[in-house]
Formats: sequence, C-alpha cells, structure tokens
Amino acid sequence: MRLSGRVAIVTGAAVGLGRAVAARFAREGASVVVADMNEEHGTALVEELRKQGLEARFVPTDISREESVQSLVDTTVTHYGRVNVLYNNAGILLADRDRPGHELSLESWDQIMNVNLRGPFLCAKYTIPRMLEDSGGAIINVSSRTGLSGCAPALTAYSTSKAAVIGLTRVMAAAYAGSGIRVNSIVPGTMDTPMNRYILVDDATREKYRSAVPLGRLGRSEDIEGLAVFLASDESAFCTGGLYMCDGGLTAV
Ligand SMILES: NC(=O)c1ccc[n+]([C@@H]2O[C@H](COP(=O)([O-])OP(=O)(O)OC[C@H]3O[C@@H](n4cnc5c(N)ncnc54)[C@H](O)[C@@H]3O)[C@@H](O)[C@H]2O)c1
Repeated sequence: MRLSGRVAIVTGAAVGLGRAVAARFAREGASVVVADMNEEHGTALVEELRKQGLEARFVPTDISREESVQSLVDTTVTHYGRVNVLYNNAGILLADRDRPGHELSLESWDQIMNVNLRGPFLCAKYTIPRMLEDSGGAIINVSSRTGLSGCAPALTAYSTSKAAVIGLTRVMAAAYAGSGIRVNSIVPGTMDTPMNRYILVDDATREKYRSAVPLGRLGRSEDIEGLAVFLASDESAFCTGGLYMCDGGLTAV
C-alpha cells in the first residue's frame, strides 16, 4: 500500500473524479476525509469504504466559505491528528451561465471563482500550517485543459479559474519547496462524470468529444487514480510545481 499511515483530505469527493480518488487513497492505506457539500453521496461513499474495512470520514464542507474550510481542517486534525495530503478537486462548471466575457454576469463569475479558485486557496491556506508542523506534505490541485487553451470559448470564468489554479500550483510549489510541501496539478481531459452530463447525454455530441481524443475514448473516473496516488505518495518525492496530463492525448495534438 502506497499511502499507509497518511491522512488525506479529498474535496468534492462525493461523486465523479474525487470519489474515485478518495476510494483509491483509502485502498492505498490512507485515512480519508471526504469533504463535500453533497451529504447524501458523501456519506454513502464513507459507509461503502468502512464496509470494506477502510478508514474514511465525511465532513460536510463548502470550500468557498472560510469558516467551513477551517472547520474541515480542525475536524480532520481532531480525528486523525494531522493532514499529509490535500487533494483540491471540488469544482463547478455552470454551463448554462458561464458565457463569453461581455455576456457573463458578475454574479456567475464570482460564484465560479469562489469555488474553483478561492476554494483551493482556502484549503491550502488552512492545511499548510498543519503540514509545516509535520515537516511536509503533498497538495494536488485539479486544473483542466480549459486552463491551458481557449478550447471552450463560452466558459470564460471556468477556464480562467482553471488557469489560475495552475498559477496557484506554481507559486505555492516555489514558496514551500524548502519546507517539504510539494504542490502539483493534474490536468484532466474530457471525463465521463456528472459535471459533463450536459454535453455527454446527447449521443452525437458525445461522439464528437470521444473522437477528438487521440486514445479514442472519454476518460473514466478511475483513469485519474494512479496519477493522484503517485503525486500524493513519496514516489513523486522529486516532483513539485508540475502539470500532469490525464487526457488521452488531447493536449498533445
Ligand atoms: N469531468 C471533466 O471532464 C473534467 C475535466 C477537467 C477538469 N475537471 C475538474 O475535475 C474536478 C472534478 O470534476 P468532476 O467531473 O468529478 O465534477 P463533478 O461535478 O462530477 O463533481 C464535483 C464534486 O464537487 C462537489 N462540490 C461542488 N462545489 C463544492 C463546494 N463549494 N464545496 C465542496 N464540494 C463541492 C460536488 O458536490 C461534487 O461532489 C473539478 O475541479 C473539475 O473542474 C473535470
């Protein structure tokens, strides 16, 4: 097991990519804190993991709210004594409201930024002091291909937030390299999760997205697990400030 004895917070772990990563972290020996607003699916995951004899706990969390994040970190430390891994995964894509710049309301811009950028910042801000007490840790920020190019021209706020997450990764990697905290970013491609239901329910649109992927299929939640474990574990001890694609080759072409 590659994460034995580690304590990991996974945000947005109730469904989708975060759920797969939280479950895999637990199978790799970590005590996992499932941090999400979705209580129903978050507690269901924890029950499922506990039935398998794995260690997990649900903490209801809104990553965009400072007091909620403080409470997440405090609860984690109260129960498990420390935080070794922060997997900053929770995010929102408001397909019906994110628009080209002049059509985008300030309210939607703020909502997306508050979750996708302020959220990972707040989680890092309150987790890092605990990691410093422990002489290190690993932070993984989930970005997106839309943060690397203008491939989704209607998604102004989402794309900007995901580009900023890469900036956050790099500046924090530089700031904490001397303190043993590694900060890296995963860049998923088009993954078959609830977030993408709005494009993938339609067969023709689904086929358009599938056929654009050099490896010939959409990503599955479990595709991200191996990379997440690698970046959370000592196997990536010499890796910080990096971007790791999990996109079937999308960004290579
Ligand atoms: N699915 C993709 O194709 C894709 C591609 C690139 C990047 N990503 C990124 O990967 C991450 C996970 O995506 P997904 O497809 O699994 O998303 P999803 O919508 O399927 O799941 C997101 C989870 O985050 C939770 N969440 C939302 N807002 C929250 C908040 N304020 N506080 C706490 N939890 C909150 C939701 O309840 C949900 O459980 C996101 O950051 C997303 O932007 C996804």
